[in-house]
Amino acid sequence: MKILFVCLGNICRSPLAEGIFQKLLAENGLAEKVKVDSAGTSAYHIGELPDYRTRQIAEKYGITLTHRARQFRKTDFDEFDYILAADSSNLAHLKTLQTTNSKAKLHLIRDWEGNNLEVPDPYYGTMKDFEEGYFILEKSLKLFLEHLKQEQSKS
Ligand code: 4NP
Repeated sequence: MKILFVCLGNICRSPLAEGIFQKLLAENGLAEKVKVDSAGTSAYHIGELPDYRTRQIAEKYGITLTHRARQFRKTDFDEFDYILAADSSNLAHLKTLQTTNSKAKLHLIRDWEGNNLEVPDPYYGTMKDFEEGYFILEKSLKLFLEHLKQEQSKS
C-alpha cells in the first residue's frame, strides 16, 4: 500500500502530513506495510527541505522532517494507491492530470472528516496557523488510517 500527500509547494502541508502519517503508522505497527511520500503540484520549491516553521512544529511533536520537495508527476497515479490533496485547488489540478484508467484513488486529505474540508495554506500565516495545520492533519489522518484498516480487513 502506497500513499501520496499533495499540496502546492510540498514544503508545508504535504510533508507534514507525510511525517504525521508515518508516526501514526509506526504507532499502529503498520510502518512496514504502508509507504508514504509527498509532492507538490508546483515546481516552486523542488529540492528544498520543508519550511522552517513546518519543521519547528513537527519537532515540537517529536517528528523530524527530512523530505526534499519534489513535483507531482503523472506516473504517481500508477505508483500510489491513494493520492490525497490538501485543498480543492490542488485536487482540481490533479484531476486535470489524471487519466481514466489510473490506479490511485484521488481524495482530499480531510474527506473522512466531512465534505470539501480543506487543510488551509499556512505559508503566508503565523506560527499559530502552522500549529493549527498540525492538529487538522493529525485529526484527519487518524480518520484516514481507520478507513484503511477497515478496507484491509474486508480484502
Ligand atoms: P504548501 O504551502 O503548499 O503547503 O507547501 C505553500 C508553500 C509555498 C507556496 C505556497 C504554499 N508558495 O507560493 O511558494
